[in-house]
Amino acid sequence: MIFSRIVGTGSCLPARVMTNDEFARRLETSDAWIRERTGIRQRHIAEESQTSSDLALAASRSALQAAGMAAADLDLIIVATSTPDYIFPSTACLLQAKLGVKGSAAFDVQAVCSGFVYALATADSFIRSGNYRNALVVGAEVFSRILDWNDRGTCVLFGDGAGAAVLAADSKPGIHASVLRADGSHAGMLSVPGNVSRGAIIGSPFLHMDGQAVFKFAVRVLEESARETAAKAGLALESVDWLIPHQANVRILEAVARKLHLPREKLVVTVDHHGNTSAASVPLALDEYVRAGRIRPGQRLLLQGVGGGFTWGSSLLTL
Ligand code: ACO
Repeated sequence: MIFSRIVGTGSCLPARVMTNDEFARRLETSDAWIRERTGIRQRHIAEESQTSSDLALAASRSALQAAGMAAADLDLIIVATSTPDYIFPSTACLLQAKLGVKGSAAFDVQAVCSGFVYALATADSFIRSGNYRNALVVGAEVFSRILDWNDRGTCVLFGDGAGAAVLAADSKPGIHASVLRADGSHAGMLSVPGNVSRGAIIGSPFLHMDGQAVFKFAVRVLEESARETAAKAGLALESVDWLIPHQANVRILEAVARKLHLPREKLVVTVDHHGNTSAASVPLALDEYVRAGRIRPGQRLLLQGVGGGFTWGSSLLTL
């Protein structure tokens, strides 16, 4: 049997840190409100000139270095992003060129905040099928570009960044099981309902969200998804060493851990200093905990995404 295994992780955060107080100086909000409702105290914001592929490049280089692999060894590159550099070509193709290689398959996955889990499950399927051996999976976002900076209900929630993982074929797992789901009837709950046509913006170029509906939906599907994925893998949820849910809001994360009866110490939390970085949040959190020596080889991880679409999914793996 062929399985896929994460053999290296990397990440990149833009240098500029934006605190809650910066919002409070411009908008009717406060550090206390933002911390209490979301757990967020700061986020990183990209420079005007920095694109998703720039952040993806830095994260990818560090993941390749951790894996002891060269870009030329990759035969598959998948980038999860909702803030691509261009309408086309894909950010994955731009990343491939920036890595100085050619020939591997390269494409983007669009599943908003579930993007990394969708991309990871896709790469895993390609590797299990024997089609590819070494895959680079990246979540990269510059959500600061699609926020209405005058809407206090949304602009305080998000940040920019990228995280990457290198997956390699192995005779043992690795990824035990993944489950991906979507329900497009909830498209309006979280969206950027715009497009470009004949040189003009049609609709809105800004993120719109029904915060309370998102909150309830996210908690429900993350719990269901965790149980479904553990059952598919034939593994008990109690055997999970670390729960790494999409970093949307610390209250959502804690509610999911509680419902799954997982102790707070097993919950990975980075939303407090990253904000919600959409598709980048899970690999950013993973890399931070790996580099800090908290997540270690051999441990069992449950990675979870939920976001616009609505989309959601989980991957249960042994590092
Ligand atoms: N500062 C101060 N007041 C604010 C702010 C702010 N930044 N934002 C909203 N408010 C106000 C509202 O205007 C409202 O005022 P009103 O009562 O005068 O009308 C009041 O606070 C309460 O608003 P609610 O929306 O009911 O506040 P709630 O407690 O639901 O918190 C929040 C809002 C934080 C967005 C919450 O609903 C939430 O976290 N939802 C999840 C959304 C999320 O995580 N989205 C991320 C993207 S989706 C994803 O990643 C899965």
